[in-house]
Amino acid sequence: MSDHLTVVDHPLVQHKLTLMREKDTSTAVFRQLLREISTLLAYEVTRSLPMTTRSIETPLCDMDAPVLSGRKLALVSILRAGNGLLDGMLDLIPSARVGFVGLYRDEATLKPVQYYCKLPGELDNRLVIAVDPMLATGNSSVAAVDLLKKAGADNIRFLCLLAAPEGVARMKEAHPDVPIVTAALDERLNEKGYIVPGLGDAGDRMFGTK
Ligand code: URA
Repeated sequence: MSDHLTVVDHPLVQHKLTLMREKDTSTAVFRQLLREISTLLAYEVTRSLPMTTRSIETPLCDMDAPVLSGRKLALVSILRAGNGLLDGMLDLIPSARVGFVGLYRDEATLKPVQYYCKLPGELDNRLVIAVDPMLATGNSSVAAVDLLKKAGADNIRFLCLLAAPEGVARMKEAHPDVPIVTAALDERLNEKGYIVPGLGDAGDRMFGTK
């Protein structure tokens, strides 16, 4: 654990993650667990949001009560697997703006190729949370954050379900200013770029594709 990497070791997160890792967990259950776990991760990744106060009247008296300050935050899904984290996060942060970055991984080079980008406006001074369940090589995460910075984002956090040490190191080298929040730091990548022990292909498991 460091300032750059936060592993959310909450018992509910860890239990749900174990169920998701199991190869016989069905698509429907995997999806439901992902929704639940992403709500818990959203809670952690927004822990240090800036606050201000507002004068309100309770039935008993006036008070200066805490509220979030600043612009609405933006969630940016790295397609397609990032979409699996959105519903659970939006359950908790319904007013968040949502953007999409389409990057696929070239299976031969493991390098990201961009095919889509649609982002909310005024990314500066907004907390932007880039979401992708798997931080594997880090290539697509680094490319997505490059793109967000070019679009004006200056306060970015990266949220994932599983991270490999290789991906964390790559992000730290390229974007030391972007904290990473994850449910687990796994052992390594295999020769195909999959996280080990991991959970397999997150997109395939949540969408029931192969
Ligand atoms: N993407 C996945 O879906 N799974 C991995 O293990 C690595 C990248």
